[in-house]
Amino acid sequence: MGKRRVLVLHGPNLNLLGSREPDVYGRMSLPELNERLRDLARRRWDWEVHAAQYNTEGGLVSALHQARVWADGVVLNPGGYTHTSVALRDALAALPLPVVEVHLSNVYAREAFRHTSLTAARSLGVISGFGWYSYLLALYALAHHLGDEAPA
Ligand code: DQA
Repeated sequence: MGKRRVLVLHGPNLNLLGSREPDVYGRMSLPELNERLRDLARRRWDWEVHAAQYNTEGGLVSALHQARVWADGVVLNPGGYTHTSVALRDALAALPLPVVEVHLSNVYAREAFRHTSLTAARSLGVISGFGWYSYLLALYALAHHLGDEAPA
């Protein structure tokens, strides 16, 4: 068995991380966040993290289709599409891989339209509200699910 490979998939506007509404989303840039994830995954589980970001719904759907043939799991922040995208939900339903949904902000402490996730029911679970650390926690959740993380 080769190394496990994990797709970290970021949705629309997350390319602006660090400069976009920093009080809500924090000051860390997307490249820096991806590097931290790659680093943790390599050191702790010897995994490869492949990070991608799309501003378009179709780009995200296609990335999920492609993940079928190479990935062992997915960490997904669907951004605003969380609350609107039937297409993304359908792509997740067709994906035979474990998915952890993440949000930097606590979506339940924000506007009512953010309280509904069309994608969450097709994920293992959701981590929301811990800033960039939400993504780290999602990697731990995935490792636990895959049996790679020793019980605490
Ligand atoms: C987000 C929350 C969404 O409501 C918002 O549209 C985003 C980012 C988050 O990470 O907190 O773009 O997914």
